[in-house]
Amino acid sequence: MTTSVFDQVDEVAHVRIAQACDLVVIAPATADLIARMAMGRADDLLTSTLLMTTAPIVISPAMHTEMWRHPATQENVKTLRTRGIRVLEPAVGRLTGKDSGPGRLPDPRSIALVCEALLCRDDPSQDLAGVRVTVSAGGTREPIDPVRYLGNRSSGRQGWAIAAAAIARGAIVTVVAANVDAPDPVGAEVVRVESAGELHSAVLEHTKNADVVIMAAAVADFRPGDVATSKIKKSGADEGLRLELVRTTDVLADLGAHRSEHRPVLVGFAAETEPDEENLVSLAQGKLASKQVDLVVANEVGSGLGFESRENRVVIVSEAAVVGRTERTSKLGVANVVLDAVSSLL
Ligand code: CTP
Repeated sequence: MTTSVFDQVDEVAHVRIAQACDLVVIAPATADLIARMAMGRADDLLTSTLLMTTAPIVISPAMHTEMWRHPATQENVKTLRTRGIRVLEPAVGRLTGKDSGPGRLPDPRSIALVCEALLCRDDPSQDLAGVRVTVSAGGTREPIDPVRYLGNRSSGRQGWAIAAAAIARGAIVTVVAANVDAPDPVGAEVVRVESAGELHSAVLEHTKNADVVIMAAAVADFRPGDVATSKIKKSGADEGLRLELVRTTDVLADLGAHRSEHRPVLVGFAAETEPDEENLVSLAQGKLASKQVDLVVANEVGSGLGFESRENRVVIVSEAAVVGRTERTSKLGVANVVLDAVSSLL
């Protein structure tokens, strides 16, 4: 394998590699490499390839906090971003040695998700550059007692895919995550919540500065009216147990009722067990009108799709029309179609 630009010069390795690749990912990217990229250096195989390629470039900086925050590094990062290079934010956590802070390499699965989001889209542009997107993801849990809850089957994968796809398109992303067992999407602010009430407060807080709010979370419609403070015992309950459920607030409808001049753009999901597309569209348009939102992404759940599945099939409706649709596809594929519809409204 060629590892130097000066080996087998006749093969012009930097040209061959640069022209053959669909995406360049550098993880981890050191402060030194970032500085050399910003200067346009080309004194080794990697930097020569980077100057040569027309493929999108993703870099994931990893270094000690002081080096990351140094004005020289920050200037270099700014330069790379203005050139269209995707510089992922480092994670915050334990660094090599005893200290911790921003500078840690994010979980490779999160880096891979952003790269996949880029690769599954034909258009590599950052059409959402600077757009503030808040996404809710996962499924809420409503406590019954200290050990039990009422929950649902949402895995959070669709919300995670929207976050990663939005980051790949340049957006500034906040994720309000209800019980999602996955590493944080790289570069996103993540607010972890458990119940519908907590999700409501967190989404309201992160709607204040948002340009777009996408409610992909499965939010409980009902919760136990009284939460037992100690574990409910079966002894003495031979007749069974009756739970009284009360309604939760519809978060999306609350956002729809309180926004002004149609800002932020509001997107809801409608999970339905309705296989007929015409009926699915009319159910989705009903939800769109009742919640006063701009777009509803309707997906049929069940038949191996939707909850707990890696795939989804959706129809996206506005008040007047079907504005997007996918066949059975990955959740990243769905995410990009949803963001296309959002982008056209901005
Ligand atoms: N939603 C919400 N707050 C709730 C319930 C739902 O914000 N308490 C949002 C969901 O995040 C989703 C949309 O509303 O974006 C539709 O959710 P869905 O469960 O399909 O519909 P519901 O409005 O709950 O109606 P129903 O369950 O009766 O179909």
